[in-house]
Amino acid sequence: MKPSMKPETFLVASALLCTLLGLGYPLSCDVCVSDGPSCRGKLQTCAPDEDSCIVVVTETNRKASLAVTSYKGCAKSSQCESGFFGFTMNPENYMGSKRHCCQKDGCNQDPLPAFVRNHTENGLRCPSCIAAFTETCTATAEALCVGEETHCVAVSGLMWPAGDKFAVQGCGTKTACHSKPGTLVPSGARLFTINRTSCL
Ligand SMILES: *[C@@H]1O[C@H](CO)[C@@H](O)[C@H](O)[C@H]1NC(C)=O
Ligand SMILES: *[C@@H]1O[C@H](CO)[C@@H](O)[C@H](O)[C@H]1NC(C)=O
Repeated sequence: MKPSMKPETFLVASALLCTLLGLGYPLSCDVCVSDGPSCRGKLQTCAPDEDSCIVVVTETNRKASLAVTSYKGCAKSSQCESGFFGFTMNPENYMGSKRHCCQKDGCNQDPLPAFVRNHTENGLRCPSCIAAFTETCTATAEALCVGEETHCVAVSGLMWPAGDKFAVQGCGTKTACHSKPGTLVPSGARLFTINRTSCL
């Protein structure tokens, strides 16, 4: 006589199978980009290799013009790290970027808490430079570090939509030294991707 599968066993087995298969389903994330501390988008299906939803808010002071940019979208978890990082090149050029990554459908819908930059100098000074179209720059000035920016950092990457290289040096948070390659930093009409960071 053949052993027959008990109905409960069958149910548990099929539930388990569905769960396992479910992990391969494409994720849906809120997608939007706009000026200001939050944006509202629409749920969109992510590419199969994008296993995270991301929400980023960046405050950028570029040539003394302050802008806040919000970005939501799909991302790879290998390029996505929740938390905050900040850089200062000089008082007229700095940025802070807050991000949250999550792995459930629509989990990036809520806005991030308001962004607050700490402007208090912490005593550290770092070599500083900003350059486009290159992977390295030679420090020509000194940055006065503020708040939690307790490291001297060098960052290089690409500026989109054109895909041009950029390089900066200055003060950074500890997290800025360890940004994952591919980390997105939306800023106004531009999108930066960080390729490499190092603590000097
Ligand atoms: C701002 O930064 C200074 C210098 O690092 C620090 O002493 C202070 O506690 C910070 N303030 C807040 C509110 O985090
Ligand atoms: C990105 O960094 C890698 C090494 O970390 C380097 O080989 C590559 O040329 C860099 N690409 C760009 C576009 O900067």
